[in-house]
Amino acid sequence: MTASLPWTARFIAPLTTSDTTDGPHPAPLFRRDFKASKVQRAVLHVTALGCVEAYLNGQRVGDEVLAPGWTTYRHRLNYSTYDVTDLLYDGANTLGAMVGEGWARGRLGWEGAGPTKNIFADRPGLFMQLELDYGGYSEIVATDKEFLTAPGPVVADSIYDGENYDARQEQTGWSAPGFDDSGWAGVEVIDWDLETLEAPTKEPVRRIQEVAVQRLITTPSGKTVADFGQNLVGWIRLSAEGNTGATITLRHAEVMEDGELGTRPLRTAKATDTYTLRGGGVETWEPRFTFHGFRYVEIEGYPGQLTADKLNAVVIHTEMTRTGWFESSNPLLNQLHSNTVWSMKGNFVSLPTDCPQRDERLGWTGDINVFGPTAAYLYDVRGVLGSWLRDLALEQAHKGYVPMVIPDFQTHAAPMTTAVWSDAAVLLPWTLYQAYGDRQILNDAYTSMRDFTTQVEGLLNPNGLWDAGFQFGDWLDPDAPPENPANGKTEPHLVAAAYFCRVTHVMAQAAGILGHLEDQTRFALLAEKVKQAFRDEYVAASGRLVNGSATAYALAITFDILNDAQKERAGEELATLVAKAKYTISTGFVGTPVLCDALTQTGHLDDAYKLLLQTECPSFLYPVTMGASTIWERWDAMRPDGSINPGGMTSFNHYALGAVADWMHRTVAGLAPAEPGYKRIRIAPKPGGDLTSASARHLTPYGEASASWQIQEDTVSLDVTVPEGTSAEVVLPLHPDSVVLEVGPGTHSWSYQVPQGYNERPVYSLDTTFGVLAQDPNVWESFAATFATFFPGVPLDGNSPDAKSLTIKDMLGMIPMSPAGFSEAIENVLKSANEVTA
Ligand code: BGC
Repeated sequence: MTASLPWTARFIAPLTTSDTTDGPHPAPLFRRDFKASKVQRAVLHVTALGCVEAYLNGQRVGDEVLAPGWTTYRHRLNYSTYDVTDLLYDGANTLGAMVGEGWARGRLGWEGAGPTKNIFADRPGLFMQLELDYGGYSEIVATDKEFLTAPGPVVADSIYDGENYDARQEQTGWSAPGFDDSGWAGVEVIDWDLETLEAPTKEPVRRIQEVAVQRLITTPSGKTVADFGQNLVGWIRLSAEGNTGATITLRHAEVMEDGELGTRPLRTAKATDTYTLRGGGVETWEPRFTFHGFRYVEIEGYPGQLTADKLNAVVIHTEMTRTGWFESSNPLLNQLHSNTVWSMKGNFVSLPTDCPQRDERLGWTGDINVFGPTAAYLYDVRGVLGSWLRDLALEQAHKGYVPMVIPDFQTHAAPMTTAVWSDAAVLLPWTLYQAYGDRQILNDAYTSMRDFTTQVEGLLNPNGLWDAGFQFGDWLDPDAPPENPANGKTEPHLVAAAYFCRVTHVMAQAAGILGHLEDQTRFALLAEKVKQAFRDEYVAASGRLVNGSATAYALAITFDILNDAQKERAGEELATLVAKAKYTISTGFVGTPVLCDALTQTGHLDDAYKLLLQTECPSFLYPVTMGASTIWERWDAMRPDGSINPGGMTSFNHYALGAVADWMHRTVAGLAPAEPGYKRIRIAPKPGGDLTSASARHLTPYGEASASWQIQEDTVSLDVTVPEGTSAEVVLPLHPDSVVLEVGPGTHSWSYQVPQGYNERPVYSLDTTFGVLAQDPNVWESFAATFATFFPGVPLDGNSPDAKSLTIKDMLGMIPMSPAGFSEAIENVLKSANEVTA
């Protein structure tokens, strides 16, 4: 894409910083004076190899931060466009800019990931084209050799490490007319393919909100730490008054450990900003070429008394429109949802990333693949994910496979194609199509989707099984050792084979929708072949799986790999597994997003709710009980004793495991698209657990849709909103006659009696079966513990097939000479269980 006028601008860089070494360089300033008069309209296009702030006549142009954002610069570099008519003077004018390292030149990647600096460019290149429209003709002021440059007050900057700003280096009036630039140096034009320049198709990153200090802490070692009460992404704006040269240091971290800043999860990222005072009055400053993931900030060197009002946290992210909300009667669940939203905000800084704080912040394909449906519900992500998918397609076309992270910063990495990660190429466009109903999304991605599927087809064994090569598998399975997150319970190639069943199935549908009929047939046949291969390799005729982990069952169920009878059996096996794990989580990145759906689809809604509402570690709500305000990368990123998990993957802001929010929207609140883009809506809430209400609201492409149910005393009520141009199928929750209705646009309400016996707690007695006792993990735990004090080492199983009919009375009868006090102790367990649930 070109500008409104042809490009006459070229990329320029300071002559003096041709140095490509790793050391920090001050962010250069650029300026050029020019004359103009009676201009009717002035438009400025700006971009940089790095991050850029543009100025006209001393005024900052626009309010974007970290522009031009991150795209796969080798193929496409976005430029920003601003109407600057109002900033222009009649007469002398000055164009200015400051250029930081950003993603193009700054450090990227974890230790050992390969070369980490100057990956996309080795010079701070600036590109500006100011178009002056005089009515009948135009003039252009563009970056060329006429510009001058000088080092600015940003003496070092790095996205990972932070920014150092020395206010003594500021040059007053540098971007305004009349400034004496005689000491400034010349620039040179540098090579950069102008074909890469594109107007952005995603929203820019902006300052979105501010968060005040919640408390100031003095740590055991005497440091001062500000707690913002929310793990967030952005930076600090500070104000201070002190002597010239005094330096304030700000260190950022997400958690505290042993009363001090917990920086180990940051790995090599220094996440430290410094501000050196100009002196002589109150100074206010915030960094511009870095960002941090933090809740806590340690402040050193603050001149005078630091009070909470001197610091504010500035939250930044891509300015997407919020489209989705959820609320329920359970405050922990609401916090889990809020944590998901905050993790999404913090990981949508220009592109979808894994984490915002350590030495990564990369466009990991797998993370957004599993989180995509939740993301598309919470915010309008057509811009940011559409743009990222174009990057994915370009990198894929360039490399012949889908790199693990997009933009691909590992130019020399060995090719690697892995399920769940690489197949974001197919599944993410499909997710967006489901959310927005726009065929263009599929059309734009089709070549990438098809090429990926065809490439993996070439990796299958003759039977159609993807059984070779590295796989991340069920990444971060809680039972995998902290130092080897890929080594979970579920065989990685089972995950790959299951995902390829889904990919081929989606491919056939997408080809059909777009009218590529030959492809449709080809991919439908391939889908059958890979499904059969999966069944032959992993599924017994009964429906039991060879590698019977919760993840394996959940994938086989939700990806429609099993026949109906097998599915039912698999559901039972899955329900048994989750009960055996006492409703704690035993799944990682891959199993977790589909686990509750798998239970729901096979008639085990109660188990899904028990999982959702469990608070013991590891579980969805355990982090919430530990004060989490974002989704953690690991279930036990912080352990119950307050220590940080020793593994290297211990981010406190990773959205992947927040993918359960999608189930909360669709099943707990019951709002889901029945057709792509919500043209038809399915409203089918499934109350459960101890919830007495839940609601979801979503801004569909047609307008707002909502579903809200409540149970009050003995009445269920449901209120729904159906937008114009759509219709909805409504399944009344808990209705005694299972009523299903068709409704059109507008608001609709129903209320009716709660069915008899709904949510009545069992009254435990000697006639209670083991199976029923085991349904309540707390009751089972005290029952088993009491049993063990009399019969140490004798196993008890509440989930075996026999447990369904074995009563406590039966058990007592089987023990010929009960030890003294045993029956009484058991009866006491039952009594106190009844008291708790009464
Ligand atoms: C990232 C992930 C990513 C994974 C894959 C990690 O370092 O944080 O979320 O998907 O690597 O290996």
